[in-house]
Amino acid sequence: RHIFLNGSYVPEDQAKISVMDRGFLFGDAIYEVTALVDGHLIDNGLHLARFARSLAELGIPLPMPLENVREMQIELIRRNQMTDGTVYLQVSRGEAERNFHPAAGLSPTFVAFTQPAKLYDTPAQRDGIAVALMSDPRWERRDIKTVMLLGQVIAKVAARTDGFSDVWLHEDGCITEGASSTAFILTKSGTIVTRQNSHAILPGCTRRAVLDLAEQRGLAIEERPFTIAEAQNAAEAFLTSASSLVIPVVKLGDSVIGDGQPGPVTRHLQEIYLAAAR
Ligand code: PDD
Repeated sequence: RHIFLNGSYVPEDQAKISVMDRGFLFGDAIYEVTALVDGHLIDNGLHLARFARSLAELGIPLPMPLENVREMQIELIRRNQMTDGTVYLQVSRGEAERNFHPAAGLSPTFVAFTQPAKLYDTPAQRDGIAVALMSDPRWERRDIKTVMLLGQVIAKVAARTDGFSDVWLHEDGCITEGASSTAFILTKSGTIVTRQNSHAILPGCTRRAVLDLAEQRGLAIEERPFTIAEAQNAAEAFLTSASSLVIPVVKLGDSVIGDGQPGPVTRHLQEIYLAAAR
C-alpha cells in the first residue's frame, strides 16, 4: 500500500513521522474520512470543506489547496488500485520540541492512506445493529474533527464488551451522536429527527447529504435534540457516516426499536443515498 506523506507517495514501510510530532504527543491534529464506492469518492466536496474548516478552527495552515488534495486522493486511489473503501486524511500541527505552546511557523504533517472495504450491502446495513447508550465523555468542541478519539475508543470497546455493535452518546438526557456517526430517529408520526449542528456534534457530511435527499423527496425533517426515551420509543432509528453510509438501528440500549427490523423509511434512505452516490 502506498501512503501519501508530506508531498510524496511512499511504500507503507517507508512512511515515517517523528515521535515529536504534535499529533502523536498532543492529539494536535485533524482528520477526514471519505467513502469510495465503485470508484467514486462520495460527498468529497463536503469532506474537503470540513477538512479546511477543522484546520482553520485550530489555526493550522492548509497544507495545500483543496483542489490539490482532491488530485492527491485520486492519485492515491489509482496507485493502490482501489475501487471500494475509504480514503483517510490527517494533518497535524507539525513536529516540535514538546511544549504545550506551539512554536511559530511549524510545517504541518500531512498523511493520507486508503483502506479497502465494501461499504454497501453489508450485514449491518441489511439486518440493522444493536447500539449501546453511554454518557458522552468528550470535550466541548466536537464540531472539530480531531484525532483526540479516546472517548470514542473507550465507548466503542465498552459497547462491544456488552454485546452491542456500536454506541450512541448522550448528554443532559439527549442523544448527541454516535461514537463515529450521526444519530437519527423517525418519530411515530413520520418525522425524521436529528440534532442540529452545533459545537456538541460533528457536522456529518453523510448527514447533510441524507437530509438533502430526504428534503427533495418531501419527507418531514426536524433538526433538534431528542431524548433517550424518544429514541427508544421511535418508529425507526438509523445512523450515518462515511464508512457506514446508512445503518438501521434495531435496538438501543435495552429497547427494541419498532418491530426490531429495519424500517421502510430507513430502507428508502439507504437506497436513495446509495443510488445518488454511485
Ligand atoms: N467518523 N460523528 C462523529 C463523532 C464521527 O466520528 C463521524 C464520522 C460522524 C459522521 O460524519 P460523516 O458522515 O461526515 O462521516 C459523526 C468517521 C467515519 C471516522 O471517524 O472514521
